[in-house]
Amino acid sequence: MHLPKHVAIIMDGNGRWAEKRGLPRTAGHKVGAETLKKILTHAQKKGIEVITLYAFSSENWKRPAEEVQTLMNLFRTYLKNDVKELIKKGIRVSFIGERERFDADLQEQMNRLERQTADFQGFHVVLALSYGARNDIINAARQIAAKAAGGQIKPQEIDESFFSAHLSTADLPAPDFIIRTGGEERISNFLLWEAAYAELYFTSVFWPDFDEKALDDALETCQRRERRYGGLNMKQKI
Ligand code: IPE
Ligand code: IPE
Ligand code: MG
Repeated sequence: MHLPKHVAIIMDGNGRWAEKRGLPRTAGHKVGAETLKKILTHAQKKGIEVITLYAFSSENWKRPAEEVQTLMNLFRTYLKNDVKELIKKGIRVSFIGERERFDADLQEQMNRLERQTADFQGFHVVLALSYGARNDIINAARQIAAKAAGGQIKPQEIDESFFSAHLSTADLPAPDFIIRTGGEERISNFLLWEAAYAELYFTSVFWPDFDEKALDDALETCQRRERRYGGLNMKQKI
């Protein structure tokens, strides 16, 4: 397989990274934000076109208020300072997830960033914030149902590409490669529809420890894999 065009990462293990060091969980999130910067720079250098980062799930609101508050403040700082550097580098930034659940100032920052970087080409960073794939699928179903009820489309016109066009990832290629750090081997409601044929890669490295070399290793593993999409490897004898 060639270098994946779209890499998606479930950035997990911040809390355990901190606990292992006798630090509060929030310390792990702070170092994790630094890791994100390093990995974005490296991914761009490697020639990846799209990278989607799962930073906060729609279920993560259930965490203790103090942890949620720290994460919100980190997003705030990140969007204000670090992302400015991304703009300087000509990187397109966009967001998927339930934007309306965030404070108004954060929503405003997200909207502004998307507007400012909308025409940038070459490298696209997608941040999944308060994202949940089932919810995204339900939203798509609702929009389509409304169109059907309004007589704009017939049920038999609904096919895979029509459905995909109603998801928040409509303008992205499907992810080729999904990495999860932190040792858990599950998807946790991330890109369920889009991941149908993605290669999955699980590493026990906690997100704050994930570095350039770890991304290189993951990409090498990915490039050794063979994707068949239900067909056959034509080099094999039948
Ligand atoms: C991932 O790290 C970051 C978020 C979910 C916000 P965790 O906070 O889930 O870290 P662990 O899995 O508890 O170690
Ligand atoms: C998945 O991690 C979400 C993010 C990394 C943002 P979680 O830590 O929330 O997932 P579970 O609870 O272990 O499934
Ligand atoms: Mg976790």
